[in-house]
Amino acid sequence: MTTDNGETAWLSTVAGTSWTPPEIDFTKPQTARMYDYYLGGKDHYEPDRETAERVVGVWPSVGKFARANRHFMHLAVERLAAVGVDQFLDVGTGIPTSPNVHEIAQAVRPGARILYTDHDPVVLAHARALMNSTEQGRIDYIQGDLRSPGTILGHPCMAGPDPALDLARPVAVTLVAIMHFITPEDDPRRIVGALMDALPSGSHLVLSHITAEFAPAEVDAAARLYHQQGLPAQARDERELSELVDALGLELLPPGVLPVNRWTPDTSDEPPTPLYTDAEASCLGLIARKP
Ligand SMILES: C[S@@+](CC[C@H](N)C(=O)[O-])C[C@H]1O[C@@H](n2cnc3c(N)ncnc32)[C@H](O)[C@@H]1O
Repeated sequence: MTTDNGETAWLSTVAGTSWTPPEIDFTKPQTARMYDYYLGGKDHYEPDRETAERVVGVWPSVGKFARANRHFMHLAVERLAAVGVDQFLDVGTGIPTSPNVHEIAQAVRPGARILYTDHDPVVLAHARALMNSTEQGRIDYIQGDLRSPGTILGHPCMAGPDPALDLARPVAVTLVAIMHFITPEDDPRRIVGALMDALPSGSHLVLSHITAEFAPAEVDAAARLYHQQGLPAQARDERELSELVDALGLELLPPGVLPVNRWTPDTSDEPPTPLYTDAEASCLGLIARKP
């Protein structure tokens, strides 16, 4: 494994040997640790729990949002692996929560490569837990900020004779529950466009996003609590996500922009039984393909 601190931090199942723990601020709530709290995880501290409990107070089903979102991620990665996708760029990985993207993808394609990225040092501190690749596959973790997509694709792990991902072949970019931390000023179209423009035809975008369409009072109140802590939070609706896909020149795949709780496995013969209600999950999911 290789890592140094800062923007170039890098862990890999195939390169290097050293590890320096990052500096972590335990005094302020962080989105990754609050999300871990919603999922019932153990990696959070008092300021995270305090803010997360206030969010639960205004949006009692936030734990259902988190679980329905993981359910969507699982189905989307499995579905793409089943049709041959064997490279994944996961931005906003979060604190490892099994099954992680690589476990799902490599169960279908043992040779799959996954490049994980998050900007939060707390995720870097836990990233060793992501390094359990199959022998045929490869996993890399880098610290990077989605708002600077060039720092992800231009990272040293993408250089040299054996880069983390081969950009000559299709890649699935998974932006799962991260885009609601990207404000309009950050310019979501520029950011996602920069990632997708660097990838060849046949690449995919998997995106999930909090929406205020089904429970506006609860989701808006939760967003205000995030803002009070200096954390960005931006709900978007079905129309905004469809427009983003169109603006990027991507092809929206069935079932379209659908609440994450309503996604079902492709192999299922059962009539879809939604996991939770749309209002409880308050999250939209989509898969799009680069023509
Ligand atoms: C709600 S968690 C989602 C984790 C995981 N993708 C999932 O859906 O289960 C959002 C993650 O995005 C990360 N994040 C937020 N803004 C980011 C940015 N600008 N660049 C990179 N990561 C970011 C947070 O640190 C956090 O780990």
